[in-house]
Amino acid sequence: MKVGVIMGGISSEREISLLTGKEMLAHLNPDKYEGIGIDIKRPDELFDKIKEIDFALLALHGTYGEDGTIQAALESMGIPYSGSGVLSSGLCMDKNLSKRLLQAEGVPTPEWIYWDGMENYSSEAVNRLGFPVFVKPNSGGSSVGTLPAKDEADFQPALQEALRWDSSVVIEKYIEGDEITCPILGGELLPIIGIRSNNSTWFDYNAKYQSGGADEQVITLPPETEASVRAAALSSYRMLKCSVYARVDMILRDGIPYVLEVNTLPGMTPASLMPKSAQAAGMTFSGLLDRIIELSLQ
Ligand code: DAL
Ligand code: MG
Repeated sequence: MKVGVIMGGISSEREISLLTGKEMLAHLNPDKYEGIGIDIKRPDELFDKIKEIDFALLALHGTYGEDGTIQAALESMGIPYSGSGVLSSGLCMDKNLSKRLLQAEGVPTPEWIYWDGMENYSSEAVNRLGFPVFVKPNSGGSSVGTLPAKDEADFQPALQEALRWDSSVVIEKYIEGDEITCPILGGELLPIIGIRSNNSTWFDYNAKYQSGGADEQVITLPPETEASVRAAALSSYRMLKCSVYARVDMILRDGIPYVLEVNTLPGMTPASLMPKSAQAAGMTFSGLLDRIIELSLQ
């Protein structure tokens, strides 16, 4: 089977996507698949480049790749692809909409304000939410354009930074707690990973991708807490209509898992969390890719 590993793309996470793609190509089982690396630099390139492939293994992240756009294009061309479908991808890429749905489902998520730039942002609303906050582009990834603000003085520059990446922003209450992530494969939770950033107070871009940037270990939680984390992760996955695989990021405080977001195309770089978790479950990177392809073709 000819598997096109679609990577690069046009989002702020292009460089990370190239790392994910390279890693996927290196680990595709050669006995089963002929891997073909396809770097997309402009949206229209997709149509020319994928005529020859039987399956699209998506190594894209962020806008255009993870937000349902490319999924819709592949659907219309009749090419099967990995991961979640069009609606789920679009929802998960929209932090505000996904948080609204999680809230409606009773899944804890930090309080937030959504600002779409249509009206003047209200400092009263931010003050009501209370500092510190995180200011995030609504449709971002890998923490690009995201900054914490501990007070009003920090807030304006953080807002300007987020607005460089998206026309709408999410201002989210900072929950001090333990950062954890829950990879899900085929509707089953893989081992939960706890994250401790080394040179930063939070899991920023450098902590995510620099070697030694963070200490990431499979963790064992007290049974009751684990049950809450599992329930929050699986409810998020279902509510947001994910399929095949995803990674649910959370902050755990006082036994309550606050879901930050669901990533439908989680990073698969050498520094990424999903392959680490799969490995702890006894799965090689190649085995993980096999499973993703099999589940996507079901
Ligand atoms: N957005 C990055 C790639 C991740 O979730 O791993
Ligand atoms: Mg993300």
